[in-house]
Amino acid sequence: MTDHNHQVAIVTGAGGTLCSEMARALAAKGIKIALLGRDIKKLKIVEEQIAAAGGISLAISTDVTDQASVEQAQKIILEQLGKFNILINGAGGNQTEAITTINEFDPKELTNTDPDFRGFFNLDMDRFLEVIKTNSMGSIIPSFVFGKTMAFHGGGSIINIASMSSYRALSRVAAYAFAKSGMVSFTQWLGAYLAPANIRVNAIAPGFFLNERSTKLLTTPEGFTERGASIMKLSPMKKFGKAPQLIGTMNYLLDDEASGFVTGITISVDGGFLACGGI
Ligand SMILES: NC(=O)c1ccc[n+]([C@@H]2O[C@H](COP(=O)([O-])OP(=O)(O)OC[C@H]3O[C@@H](n4cnc5c(N)ncnc54)[C@H](OP(=O)(O)O)[C@@H]3O)[C@@H](O)[C@H]2O)c1
Repeated sequence: MTDHNHQVAIVTGAGGTLCSEMARALAAKGIKIALLGRDIKKLKIVEEQIAAAGGISLAISTDVTDQASVEQAQKIILEQLGKFNILINGAGGNQTEAITTINEFDPKELTNTDPDFRGFFNLDMDRFLEVIKTNSMGSIIPSFVFGKTMAFHGGGSIINIASMSSYRALSRVAAYAFAKSGMVSFTQWLGAYLAPANIRVNAIAPGFFLNERSTKLLTTPEGFTERGASIMKLSPMKKFGKAPQLIGTMNYLLDDEASGFVTGITISVDGGFLACGGI
């Protein structure tokens, strides 16, 4: 994949912290980028940054959990940017009502009416399902729609985004973990399935990187929240990741020379979090 000027990549979640960085990095190589997300304002900021750096991108408001919306985006991409051979499935995230505020069962949750105290039995099951859907179908539907077109045009590369929750039952985030652990398995399955279509499918599992939501959850002006501090305790490198630290792994996975015999794998970029036994 060296003739970048004729390449087109689709990046979902492109208005967010990690995937805006990926989109900018790909655009800097001369690859044209379709920027997908729901909030067009966030996408337009990235589109402007890419244009200011001399790159080409197109912001398209899309709900990745909605097949019709993804198909509509595809129509626009094919018309305005042309054939694509890279898909980064970055859209994802969590919702407050699907996250417990406690780490283990507390009998108070059985009679609780305080919305700021949430045990598992106080969670909103509709929100729980939405989180599962965003972090599973939100990558499966784009793989289905765009993957079919990539197969038709001769191949390409798909990168999914997993998480530390894919491997460890991190407290509080059951719905997110349920979906992100499935993303490792889906990456294996689709990698094996699409090998004859000349499409490689891999994933990156970022450790803890600060974004808008996690900055509030994990940090204070003085340092760390309790949760942030417990993450640091289990992080050998004693720091959060920064979005540019994902770019080398992305480049490797997209490079047909460097990783042409690699499919179905998930690479952790986690400052040693998964390697750490905790004691
Ligand atoms: N930050 C971390 O530490 C970390 C660690 C492990 C994995 N991850 C994963 O890495 C990916 C990027 O995370 P991030 O930290 O960059 O989060 P982020 O800043 O919140 O970006 C995620 C983006 O996904 C988009 N999105 C959510 N639901 C969508 C939908 N239904 N359709 C289209 N777009 C949707 C959001 O944009 P709209 O609201 O505009 O749609 C948002 O800009 C996610 O999959 C996340 O789960 C992050």
